[in-house]
Amino acid sequence: MTLNEGVDKRFIELLVHHSFPFKKALDIGCGTGNYLAFLESKSFVVNGIDSNPTNIEMTQKIATKSSNIVQADMYEFEYPQNVYNLILSVSTLHHGIKKQVKFAIRKVYESLVPDGKIFITLPNLDASKTLETYSSKTGPEAGIPHSFSPNKKSEICSHNVKTFP
Ligand SMILES: C[S@@+](CC[C@H](N)C(=O)[O-])C[C@H]1O[C@@H](n2cnc3c(N)ncnc32)[C@H](O)[C@@H]1O
Repeated sequence: MTLNEGVDKRFIELLVHHSFPFKKALDIGCGTGNYLAFLESKSFVVNGIDSNPTNIEMTQKIATKSSNIVQADMYEFEYPQNVYNLILSVSTLHHGIKKQVKFAIRKVYESLVPDGKIFITLPNLDASKTLETYSSKTGPEAGIPHSFSPNKKSEICSHNVKTFP
Protein backbone atom coordinates (compact mmCIF):
# COMPACT_ATOMS: atom_id res chain seq x y z
CA MET A 1 0.00 0.00 0.00
CA THR A 2 1.34 3.42 -0.91
CA LEU A 3 0.96 6.38 1.40
CA ASN A 4 -1.40 8.22 -0.92
CA GLU A 5 -3.79 5.26 -1.20
CA GLY A 6 -7.11 6.36 0.27
CA VAL A 7 -6.13 10.02 0.06
CA ASP A 8 -8.57 12.10 -1.99
CA LYS A 9 -7.04 13.09 -5.34
CA ARG A 10 -8.30 16.66 -4.87
CA PHE A 11 -6.32 16.89 -1.65
CA ILE A 12 -3.16 15.78 -3.43
CA GLU A 13 -3.84 18.44 -6.08
CA LEU A 14 -4.27 21.10 -3.40
CA LEU A 15 -0.82 20.29 -2.08
CA VAL A 16 0.70 20.26 -5.54
CA HIS A 17 -0.81 23.56 -6.62
CA HIS A 18 -0.17 25.65 -3.53
CA SER A 19 2.97 26.58 -1.73
CA PHE A 20 3.22 26.31 2.02
CA PRO A 21 5.87 28.65 3.44
CA PHE A 22 5.85 26.50 6.56
CA LYS A 23 4.15 23.14 6.94
CA LYS A 24 1.83 22.90 9.88
CA ALA A 25 -1.47 21.05 9.52
CA LEU A 26 -4.47 20.15 11.66
CA ASP A 27 -6.53 17.08 10.81
CA ILE A 28 -10.01 17.30 12.38
CA GLY A 29 -11.38 13.77 12.68
CA CYS A 30 -8.04 12.19 11.88
CA GLY A 31 -9.49 8.66 12.02
CA THR A 32 -6.72 6.09 11.93
CA GLY A 33 -4.13 8.52 10.59
CA ASN A 34 -4.33 8.00 6.85
CA TYR A 35 -4.00 11.67 5.95
CA LEU A 36 -1.58 12.31 8.78
CA ALA A 37 0.84 9.68 7.45
CA PHE A 38 0.56 11.13 3.96
CA LEU A 39 1.19 14.69 5.17
CA GLU A 40 4.11 13.66 7.32
CA SER A 41 5.64 12.03 4.25
CA LYS A 42 5.43 15.52 2.68
CA SER A 43 7.27 17.05 5.67
CA PHE A 44 4.23 18.53 7.40
CA VAL A 45 3.96 18.61 11.17
CA VAL A 46 0.42 17.39 11.75
CA ASN A 47 -1.78 17.73 14.77
CA GLY A 48 -4.86 15.56 14.88
CA ILE A 49 -8.03 15.34 16.90
CA ASP A 50 -10.65 12.62 16.96
CA SER A 51 -13.31 11.64 19.46
CA ASN A 52 -12.72 7.91 19.10
CA PRO A 53 -10.07 6.59 21.51
CA THR A 54 -9.24 3.58 19.32
CA ASN A 55 -8.58 5.86 16.36
CA ILE A 56 -6.40 8.07 18.52
CA GLU A 57 -4.36 5.11 19.71
CA MET A 58 -3.86 3.87 16.14
CA THR A 59 -2.88 7.32 14.86
CA GLN A 60 -0.47 7.90 17.73
CA LYS A 61 1.27 4.63 16.80
CA ILE A 62 2.12 5.84 13.30
CA ALA A 63 2.67 9.54 14.03
CA THR A 64 6.12 11.03 14.41
CA LYS A 65 7.11 12.64 17.70
CA SER A 66 6.53 16.16 16.42
CA SER A 67 2.84 15.48 15.85
CA ASN A 68 0.32 15.95 18.61
CA ILE A 69 -2.66 13.60 18.43
CA VAL A 70 -5.38 14.12 21.00
CA GLN A 71 -8.74 12.66 21.79
CA ALA A 72 -11.17 15.56 21.66
CA ASP A 73 -14.63 16.53 20.54
CA MET A 74 -14.20 18.87 17.59
CA TYR A 75 -17.21 20.87 18.74
CA GLU A 76 -15.62 21.60 22.12
CA PHE A 77 -11.94 21.61 21.30
CA GLU A 78 -9.94 24.72 22.16
CA TYR A 79 -8.50 25.52 18.75
CA PRO A 80 -5.32 27.56 18.87
CA GLN A 81 -5.60 30.79 16.91
CA ASN A 82 -3.52 31.73 13.89
CA VAL A 83 -1.34 28.61 13.87
CA TYR A 84 -1.97 26.32 10.90
CA ASN A 85 -1.53 26.94 7.21
CA LEU A 86 -3.44 23.78 6.34
CA ILE A 87 -6.56 22.41 8.02
CA LEU A 88 -8.32 19.34 6.74
CA SER A 89 -11.42 17.52 7.80
CA VAL A 90 -12.43 14.57 5.70
CA SER A 91 -15.96 13.19 6.08
CA THR A 92 -16.13 14.47 9.64
CA LEU A 93 -17.39 18.03 10.20
CA HIS A 94 -21.02 17.10 9.59
CA HIS A 95 -21.27 14.77 12.60
CA GLY A 96 -23.26 17.28 14.62
CA ILE A 97 -26.11 19.71 14.67
CA LYS A 98 -26.03 22.89 12.58
CA LYS A 99 -24.97 25.08 15.52
CA GLN A 100 -22.00 22.82 16.26
CA VAL A 101 -20.92 22.70 12.64
CA LYS A 102 -21.04 26.50 12.42
CA PHE A 103 -18.95 26.73 15.60
CA ALA A 104 -16.34 24.35 14.17
CA ILE A 105 -16.15 26.26 10.88
CA ARG A 106 -15.59 29.54 12.71
CA LYS A 107 -12.85 27.92 14.81
CA VAL A 108 -11.19 26.47 11.71
CA TYR A 109 -11.07 29.95 10.22
CA GLU A 110 -9.56 31.44 13.38
CA SER A 111 -6.99 28.67 13.60
CA LEU A 112 -5.66 29.34 10.12
CA VAL A 113 -2.93 31.85 9.39
CA PRO A 114 -3.71 34.40 6.65
CA ASP A 115 -3.63 32.64 3.28
CA GLY A 116 -3.91 29.25 5.02
CA LYS A 117 -5.75 26.52 3.12
CA ILE A 118 -8.65 24.29 4.12
CA PHE A 119 -9.80 20.97 2.71
CA ILE A 120 -13.21 19.79 3.88
CA THR A 121 -15.29 16.97 2.47
CA LEU A 122 -18.93 16.37 3.28
CA PRO A 123 -21.29 13.61 2.20
CA ASN A 124 -23.43 13.99 -0.85
CA LEU A 125 -26.93 13.71 0.60
CA ASP A 126 -28.51 13.16 -2.83
CA ALA A 127 -26.31 10.15 -3.47
CA SER A 128 -27.02 8.86 0.00
CA LYS A 129 -30.71 8.45 -0.84
CA THR A 130 -29.79 5.27 -2.70
CA LEU A 131 -27.60 3.94 0.10
CA GLU A 132 -28.43 1.63 2.95
CA THR A 133 -27.99 2.88 6.47
CA TYR A 134 -27.17 1.59 9.91
CA SER A 135 -26.39 3.25 13.20
CA SER A 136 -24.58 1.78 16.16
CA LYS A 137 -26.24 1.81 19.55
CA THR A 138 -23.07 2.43 21.53
CA GLY A 139 -19.83 4.36 21.24
CA PRO A 140 -19.08 7.94 20.24
CA GLU A 141 -21.20 7.69 17.08
CA ALA A 142 -24.22 6.08 18.74
CA GLY A 143 -27.41 6.98 16.95
CA ILE A 144 -25.69 8.61 13.98
CA PRO A 145 -26.81 7.02 10.71
CA HIS A 146 -23.98 5.69 8.51
CA SER A 147 -24.67 4.91 4.91
CA PHE A 148 -23.13 2.47 2.50
CA SER A 149 -23.75 1.15 -0.94
CA PRO A 150 -24.59 -2.56 -0.83
CA ASN A 151 -22.72 -2.96 -4.14
CA LYS A 152 -19.64 -0.96 -3.31
CA LYS A 153 -18.83 -1.27 0.36
CA SER A 154 -15.60 0.67 0.04
CA GLU A 155 -17.64 3.85 -0.36
CA ILE A 156 -18.78 4.03 3.20
CA CYS A 157 -19.72 7.46 4.40
CA SER A 158 -21.62 8.78 7.33
CA HIS A 159 -24.06 11.58 7.75
CA ASN A 160 -26.36 12.87 10.38
CA VAL A 161 -29.54 13.13 8.37
CA LYS A 162 -31.69 14.00 11.35
CA THR A 163 -29.78 17.18 12.16
CA PHE A 164 -29.79 18.66 8.66
CA PRO A 165 -33.49 19.28 7.94
C1 LIG B 1 -15.78 8.90 8.34
S1 LIG B 1 -14.50 9.00 9.54
C2 LIG B 1 -13.22 9.85 8.64
C3 LIG B 1 -11.85 9.63 9.22
C4 LIG B 1 -10.69 10.30 8.45
N1 LIG B 1 -10.89 11.71 8.30
C5 LIG B 1 -10.48 9.66 7.10
O1 LIG B 1 -10.86 10.24 6.09
O2 LIG B 1 -9.94 8.54 7.07
C6 LIG B 1 -15.15 10.24 10.65
C7 LIG B 1 -14.26 10.49 11.84
O3 LIG B 1 -14.81 11.54 12.62
C8 LIG B 1 -14.62 11.24 13.99
N2 LIG B 1 -15.60 12.04 14.75
C9 LIG B 1 -16.96 11.93 14.74
N3 LIG B 1 -17.51 12.84 15.55
C10 LIG B 1 -16.47 13.55 16.09
C11 LIG B 1 -16.40 14.64 17.01
N4 LIG B 1 -17.50 15.19 17.54
N5 LIG B 1 -15.17 15.13 17.32
C12 LIG B 1 -14.05 14.60 16.80
N6 LIG B 1 -14.06 13.56 15.92
C13 LIG B 1 -15.25 13.05 15.58
C14 LIG B 1 -14.84 9.75 14.06
O4 LIG B 1 -14.29 9.17 15.24
C15 LIG B 1 -14.14 9.29 12.79
O5 LIG B 1 -12.77 9.00 12.99
